[in-house]
Amino acid sequence: MLRIRHKAEGKPGALLAERVDRPEPAAGELLVRVGAIGVTLPTVRKLWERGDGPVALGGEIAGEVVALGPGVEDFALGEHVTGLCFADAYAEFAVLSTAMASRVPAGVTAVDAVAVVRSGLVALGAYEAARPQLHESVLVTAAASGVGVMALQYARALGAGRVVAAVSSRAKVDFVRWMGADEVVRYADADWGGPYDVILDGVGGDLLAPAVRCLAPGGRLVAFSSGGGAVEAHELLLRGASLIGFQMRAVAAGQPERHARWQRELWQLYGAGTLRPAVHAQIPLSQAARAHALVERRRNLGKVVLVP
Ligand SMILES: NC(=O)c1ccc[n+]([C@@H]2O[C@H](COP(=O)([O-])OP(=O)(O)OC[C@H]3O[C@@H](n4cnc5c(N)ncnc54)[C@H](OP(=O)(O)O)[C@@H]3O)[C@@H](O)[C@H]2O)c1
Repeated sequence: MLRIRHKAEGKPGALLAERVDRPEPAAGELLVRVGAIGVTLPTVRKLWERGDGPVALGGEIAGEVVALGPGVEDFALGEHVTGLCFADAYAEFAVLSTAMASRVPAGVTAVDAVAVVRSGLVALGAYEAARPQLHESVLVTAAASGVGVMALQYARALGAGRVVAAVSSRAKVDFVRWMGADEVVRYADADWGGPYDVILDGVGGDLLAPAVRCLAPGGRLVAFSSGGGAVEAHELLLRGASLIGFQMRAVAAGQPERHARWQRELWQLYGAGTLRPAVHAQIPLSQAARAHALVERRRNLGKVVLVP
């Protein structure tokens, strides 16, 4: 089968295509014939920013179960599943932990499933972490990203008041409006239209401090980006505001029942038409580098998907 990995040597981010045997699922794992793979910003960033050795490429996958690891009883051969795969997701066959897997409802394509599953779970989890009240104002940064478009739709559907999208470029404005934003601001704008009760921040870094300054009294900022960043405690206490960290992997490992509830809610909302998948491009797996370049250059409107 075809598998793409990061090259240990060479320029940062360079990818290596190999022909290898299919992996074997271990206890608690499924072997999946992969129909689609989601490109994620954390994976792309790791390769470009570290670039110091081989990095296993993770991402959402969706496809058909073709083998079960020892002891797996809650999934069956032939079922269609999706979930986040932390290593060697860029392959024709990949191993998925049952803890991360959810069944794909009938009629949902593999491409739509990867556009919805991880992004939707992160957006749902981050929004819940903010403890939103009805009619509160919400700002979503990186609003055109895979997670961002799901966050806009959740906020809209779950009773937010004003939903504002923040993006880097003018080229994303119409898209995020179409995905549910009432208003759009750009990071370079002097005024971000605050104050906001809730901020869902998928950018971090230098944007974190100005975002905190946009919080309303009692406001909550959920930091879920891979971008780091620092905040002055004084900016929080001035507003009685809170900064809340969120990582889906930690919830999946530490609170599996909460993770399972989000999976159920995600597919219910999808089935009800509340969540629309947004796919920027479907790119052959063999051209993964092209897909990475799109995300690295911040050009994508929604999810970039690789197709084996
Ligand atoms: N905590 C968790 O469990 C978790 C899980 C998955 C993803 N995330 C985070 O959610 C955010 C969105 O991820 P995604 O996979 O949905 O992204 P994606 O679909 O690949 O979209 C990438 C977009 O993110 C924005 N972005 C923000 N910081 C960036 C940077 N330093 N370099 C390049 N693009 C940047 C860009 O939009 P703009 O140019 O408009 O900003 C870019 O177009 C990321 O920060 C990621 O780390 C967190």
